[in-house]
Formats: sequence, C-alpha cells, structure tokens
Amino acid sequence: MILVLGGTGKTGRKIAERLNKRGQAFRIGSRSATPSFDWEDSDTWADAIDGVDTVYITFQPDLAVPGAKEKIEKFTSQAVKSGVKKMVLLSGKGETEAERCEKIVMHSGVDWTIVRASWFNQNFSESFLLDPILAGHVALPKGDAPIPFVDTDDIADVVVEALLDDKHVGQTYELTGPRQLTFEQVTQEISHVVDREIVYQPITMDTYEEMLRQFHLPEDYVWLIMYLFEEVLVEKNAVVTQDVEKVLGRKARDFSEYAKETAESGIWNPVISEVGV
Ligand SMILES: NC(=O)c1ccc[n+]([C@@H]2O[C@H](COP(=O)([O-])OP(=O)(O)OC[C@H]3O[C@@H](n4cnc5c(N)ncnc54)[C@H](OP(=O)(O)O)[C@@H]3O)[C@@H](O)[C@H]2O)c1
Repeated sequence: MILVLGGTGKTGRKIAERLNKRGQAFRIGSRSATPSFDWEDSDTWADAIDGVDTVYITFQPDLAVPGAKEKIEKFTSQAVKSGVKKMVLLSGKGETEAERCEKIVMHSGVDWTIVRASWFNQNFSESFLLDPILAGHVALPKGDAPIPFVDTDDIADVVVEALLDDKHVGQTYELTGPRQLTFEQVTQEISHVVDREIVYQPITMDTYEEMLRQFHLPEDYVWLIMYLFEEVLVEKNAVVTQDVEKVLGRKARDFSEYAKETAESGIWNPVISEVGV
C-alpha cells in the first residue's frame, strides 16, 4: 500500500494515475481524502499511514516554510513506527531549508529516495503564474534568470519508478527540463502557441513584493514567493541535469511540448463574460 500525499495536486495526481494504471494499491493523503490527512493537524496522520508500506511525501505549502522541519520530523518518526519501509520525498532544487528536511528522511532508518525538482512548467497553468498569463501581462522580477523548468509528467514518472523499484533507494535525483528559459522567453513561447499578445514586464523584487501585498495575499504566502525568487532563481540552480534521462531512459520533456499541449487544453484561454445578450 502506497500513501500519496498531495495525491490530487500537481505531481500527486499524476502519480496516482500512474499507480492506478499499473494496478498498484495506493491511498491519497489530503484534506479532502478519506481518511483525511492534514499537515496542520497531526491527529489525522495515524489513520492515513495505517497499513502503509511506502509514502510519497509532498509537503504543503513548501519545505522551506517555518515549522516544516518539525512536521517532517514528527511525520517520518510516526510513519516508521507505524511500519512504513520506504519514503520518496519531493524537494525543491536549491532550497537550503528543504535540504534540512531531506536529511530527516535520509536518517529516518528506512529506505528513501529524494527527488529535488526545479521550478515546474505547470506553475504557468496550475499555480500562481496562471493569472498573469490569462491577463496577458506577466510582471515578474529576475527576468534574466535562466530557469531549467521541469515538467510534472517527468517528476511523476521518476517518482513512480522510485516508489516501485528498489534500485533507486538511497539516491538523490535533481530533476530539470532539457533547457533553460527566462520568464521573457516563457512568455514569448506561450504567447506564440495561444496566438495572443502576452507582454513580459521586468520589475524589481521590491515592486513585486508590493504588488503581492496589493492583492491582499497572506503574509506567509508573500514571504514564500519572495523566498523562492531570491533563493532558487540563482545561477547555481540554473544547471540542466540529466537525471530524468538517467532514471527513465528517455529525454526530459521540453517546455514547448508542454506549452503546445496546454494551449490545446484551453486552460490559457481568457474567460470572456457574456453581458446581457
Ligand atoms: N511548484 C514548483 O515549481 C515546485 C518546485 C520544486 C518543489 N516543489 C514542491 O512541491 C510541493 C507541492 O507539490 P505539488 O505541487 O505536487 O502539490 P500542490 O499541487 O501544491 O498541492 C496540492 C495537494 O496538496 C493537498 N494539500 C493542500 N494543503 C494540504 C494540507 N494542509 N495537508 C494535506 N494536504 C494538503 C491538496 O489536497 P486537499 O486540498 O484535499 O488537501 C492537493 O492534493 C511543495 O512542497 C513544493 O515545495 C514545487
């Protein structure tokens, strides 16, 4: 029995689909699942890990947030006591705080694999970068930072291998896409596939922070977004790795393939409201 935490989210959903196709028994761990699993309420954890051998751990909202390390410590220790034999942790490439959580999993005493991912392509279709694309105006800092965006299809394929095949035990994989792109290049690619003008506007970190506050986003969220821009979008994290190919024996998915498929799905079509016809 595999517990897929965040099993309806960007990576977890695809992992659950793949496990289902392979006829593998699994259970989704999330607040809306039955039994419910909530990172904010440790009383919900026991039922979710009962009878589970292997866990895919995605933490909410991010392993970098204050308190994440303590929760990972508590969860892993409870999981091991409950009989879990293997853990696969989704981590963020270049996040120092996340590396502390990786160490907890590595020293948990059971089999482990760490999957450190670069920024996801799907941030532009299932997360905080979707709204700017729909608005046709992408105002972001770090415009010249090269980012090796990775696709959640590749993450899911790698995680499933790690969950099911013991040859990945004790490995740390760094997953990136096959090339680096800046926010300006991403904006141009999406604009091209949707055949609609989408403008990229470079702004400073201070202006971005101010902008997030103007949208009345919670302070924790503003802190996290600023942390991710400052900590992750730096030169050392821009390196393209070959780990997707190493694990899967095929090339990592290119951003253009993702962009084409997402454009065809209609997710990037702005909703035009019909007024009094
Ligand atoms: N986005 C990126 O570019 C990126 C890059 C590297 C690493 N990561 C890491 O990826 C992880 C997130 O993974 P993801 O993107 O696959 O997930 P996601 O799409 O952000 O997460 C949504 C899932 O988490 C569940 N969830 C939300 N709050 C929860 C809570 N309090 N307790 C339990 N479950 C909760 C949701 O279900 P319910 O609503 O039913 O609870 C849903 O299944 C983060 O740790 C992040 O650091 C992200």
